[in-house]
Amino acid sequence: MRRRLIAGNWKMNGSRSSLAELDAIAAAAEAAPGVDVAICPPFTLIERAVARQPGLAIGGQDCHAATKGAHTGCIAATMLVEAGASMVIVGHSERRADQHETDTEVKAKAEAAIAAGLIAIVCCGETAETHRAGETKTVVSSQLRGSLPVAGGDALVVAYEPIWAIGTGLTPTADDVAAVHKTIRGVLVEQLGAERADGVRILYGGSVTAGNAAELLAVPDVDGALVGGASLTAEAFVPIIAAAAR
Ligand code: PGA
Repeated sequence: MRRRLIAGNWKMNGSRSSLAELDAIAAAAEAAPGVDVAICPPFTLIERAVARQPGLAIGGQDCHAATKGAHTGCIAATMLVEAGASMVIVGHSERRADQHETDTEVKAKAEAAIAAGLIAIVCCGETAETHRAGETKTVVSSQLRGSLPVAGGDALVVAYEPIWAIGTGLTPTADDVAAVHKTIRGVLVEQLGAERADGVRILYGGSVTAGNAAELLAVPDVDGALVGGASLTAEAFVPIIAAAAR
């Protein structure tokens, strides 16, 4: 039985004062012992977030594939570990678009993250054009085959995030989510073998809110959610944790 994971991605939002939101989020996480809860704030807030709420899982939003070196502006997985992070998002569609990250790079980042002892959340998802063309399953499968690290199990999490659903208020139907997650589970078994695939959680992400979380989390093969906008305040995020606990 995979534990549910509700992870918040603050993206390039938040400042020191935002860390006050973590108090109620940590309390909600404590009240939901069957659910794993994490917040991924900007790098500069990680250490303070860990100090403020040591019981809450804190993650990064990216890491480099190398452990050190001449890579101005980048951060190594081992540095995230030193700051107190326990997980990291890699291959988010915003980074694939803005920083031109390829599947091969995402795979290397995920491998570096897991080698450093972090949980790697590997993101995949199709564009609006791909969705309209009915090619979602083909594109997501190919993305995953290129991006999955060799390791599996509970150190690996896959987040399915249709790009057209991120920050738009749009979500796929429950049937569409079920179909894509089933395909992803198949690719995990094919790539990692049944045993290592079994512990891998598959999150849905893209416009998850208090209003739709219960429905999305009830979809077969959905093991949790990756939440952007609705993770920025405890008021918006706590009901999503509560929905996962039910
Ligand atoms: P959203 O973002 O919840 O604001 O749509 C999700 C994500 O990009 O992880």
